[in-house]
Amino acid sequence: MKLKTKDLLTLSELTQKEFVDLINYSIKLKKELKKGGTKPILKNKTLTMIFQKPSTRTRVSFEIGMYQLGGHTINLSSNDMQLSRGESIEDTAKTLSRYTDCIMARVYEHELLEKLSKHASVPVINGLSDSFHPCQILADFMTIKEKKGKLKGLKIAWIGDGNNVCNSMIYGAALTGIEMSIATPKGFEPNKTVVKESKKSTNIELTTDPFIATKNADVVVTDTHSSIHNSDPKRIKKFLPKYQVNFKLMSTAKKNAIFMHCLPAKREQEVTSSVIDGSQSVVWDEAENRLHSQKALLVALISA
Ligand code: CP
Ligand code: NVA
Repeated sequence: MKLKTKDLLTLSELTQKEFVDLINYSIKLKKELKKGGTKPILKNKTLTMIFQKPSTRTRVSFEIGMYQLGGHTINLSSNDMQLSRGESIEDTAKTLSRYTDCIMARVYEHELLEKLSKHASVPVINGLSDSFHPCQILADFMTIKEKKGKLKGLKIAWIGDGNNVCNSMIYGAALTGIEMSIATPKGFEPNKTVVKESKKSTNIELTTDPFIATKNADVVVTDTHSSIHNSDPKRIKKFLPKYQVNFKLMSTAKKNAIFMHCLPAKREQEVTSSVIDGSQSVVWDEAENRLHSQKALLVALISA
């Protein structure tokens, strides 16, 4: 499959059909891998990865995904690049485009990715910025489709920080007709523009009450109360004990609700061990699906 967009920075670049097609293609690639292997669709293609922030899942799943597709990855820490000595992102983009078929970058400021995408002639993928995490949401919606058999008509409850992952999930909800109820403390709401745009396509509710969010929810999602870009330990006090996913909160969602978390998790903060390690949790499938959904994305962006 092919996408119209050159880059994937937020998810808002995709049409509803493209998003759903990507999810279905991810599920197909997963089945193919389990049956015996992936076809070398990206033979001789290269992906260059730039990390300004730490990563376990994103780095490993992109690297192994490219390998399984017959391609190759180069992994760069921005500290080891001339970027750290002041070379501009524009010049970096132009240089890398002469070597590689695709760039994936994990950055602090989202604007840096926009500059990278503007000046790179090859596709640019957002591997997480302070504002968005689109690759996570491809994996999350793939997981929801696998577990629930459908997307449209479901309800997601987001509990905690209205952060980068939450912003991308709202775009995912708008692309699929999933309803979202988002419970955050005052001042920790998701991006206003993202909410406003997405409300045109689906029902997005903002509340400060986690129990309103989980009412009738099919999926309960949370993330750390302090992200890489805002790691002030004082933040946590604003969230606890109210914004913790525990058995009591889970029991107010639908009986067959699933629990999701992009990981890494802080057990006993945003989620109790009993929930994340319990029978409703699908976090390991979610982590695995990063591999399959990013393979689908890579094929859709860079195959001939
Ligand atoms: N969920 C996620 O992006 O994990 P990493 O930070 O380990 O890449
Ligand atoms: N919101 C988290 C996600 C980590 C994958 C962060 O930005 O640190």
